[in-house]
Amino acid sequence: MTFSDLKTADSTIALLRDPYRYISRRAADLGEDVFETRLLLRQTTCMTGAEAAGVFYDPARFQRAGAAPPPLQKTLFGQGGVQGLDGEHHRKRKAMFLQIIQPDRVEVLAELVTQHWRRAVGYWALAGQIDLYPQLQLLLTRAVCEWAGVPLPEAEVENRTRQLTALFDDAGDIGLGHRRSRAARKAAESWTADVIKQIRSGRLAVPDWSAASIIAHHQEPDGRPMEPRVAAVELLNVLRPTVATAVYITFVAHALEAHPTWRERLAQGNGTEDLAFIEEVRRTYPFFPAAAAIVREEFDWRGHRFPQGRRVLLDLYGTNHDPRTWQQPTRFDPERFLREDPDPFAFVPQGGGDPAVHHRCPGEPVATRLMGTALDQLTRHLTYTPVQPLAAVDYRRLPALPKGGYRIKSISARRH
Ligand code: HEM
Repeated sequence: MTFSDLKTADSTIALLRDPYRYISRRAADLGEDVFETRLLLRQTTCMTGAEAAGVFYDPARFQRAGAAPPPLQKTLFGQGGVQGLDGEHHRKRKAMFLQIIQPDRVEVLAELVTQHWRRAVGYWALAGQIDLYPQLQLLLTRAVCEWAGVPLPEAEVENRTRQLTALFDDAGDIGLGHRRSRAARKAAESWTADVIKQIRSGRLAVPDWSAASIIAHHQEPDGRPMEPRVAAVELLNVLRPTVATAVYITFVAHALEAHPTWRERLAQGNGTEDLAFIEEVRRTYPFFPAAAAIVREEFDWRGHRFPQGRRVLLDLYGTNHDPRTWQQPTRFDPERFLREDPDPFAFVPQGGGDPAVHHRCPGEPVATRLMGTALDQLTRHLTYTPVQPLAAVDYRRLPALPKGGYRIKSISARRH
């Protein structure tokens, strides 16, 4: 098949050109919440909106085994992890993540991250100017490894940060980036598998509550521990997305600059409105475009047949901007989160439904807490100046980021 065949027979190019808005724009053009197309040479059904999310997260209708496109399994997700499990096996593995991410553990991580922010500010002040996104990757890698019970000698920080970042930052690429991401997965899995083996053999002592310990000792439904390779994937399922929070934190900085009235209001406030601002950042800024599942048994919905085995994509970005559930969806308005709690199928930046039962992300408390730490630092503990005029967000990049990064200068700790 040639490039031009792909262009006409397959919507992959259209999706890659506008990964966050392709589904909602096409659905709006067709006047439907559901449409069929070919993506990555496979017949695919795309869905958008809160009602579609309710259907998508029904485990009787959909399974996750075989849902992730192979290029993403070899990079972003790895093989054998919780993302591709179903039923009882999924619930049990998911309970392991919820145990790792208990509220008091999240507070410990937030405290570590705050300490690393304070330390980093000293270096940033000397550096003159910094690009926030790569600096946050380093800071978060240091903090999450310490928290998770993964030894990280200072000499390895840059290399491991590069690897963890390549797992998500290069995974959406189709060329060189994809190869970099695959190589990073191999190296990172071998690293975390070694940590698991060391814990199991008693050569490495880590706290019982740490992610590495919980994963090393987790029992599968058959009572056995996970294979080291699978445990390695699950440990990376904690490290990688915590480092990926650097994307959201960069957007917090971007949103504070874009909405100076809110910056001032938060800086003067006592923190009670911080979460509303953070939720509006997660709603409005792009991160994960869509979630994938496979039809378990044939059914019909909204006049569309969903045949068994069909891959289905749920539009996350578009659902967060659906005018039927969000008034003036493109307006940045944190007050909407002060007025009411969001519907679990309408607000889906990290998936929908119930994290204990569905495939919704278990890491939302980590993401929102670390965004909160960053917001506190940026508004109440630091002074800095953006280097360039506010850049637009690059919607073609995966994950999206401000064009040219987010550079700041004249950084110093505020005296209280
Ligand atoms: C950086 C911000 C994050 C974003 C944008 C994000 C996004 C997502 C999305 C969209 C899903 C898939 C939902 C679905 O398939 O229905 C997911 C699943 C998952 N996330 Fe996150 N996530 C983030 C942070 C985290 C953190 C901090 C952790 C762990 C510490 C984490 C661990 C996981 C795991 C283990 C799954 C698989 C859940 C399952 O299949 O049941 N994520 N995430």
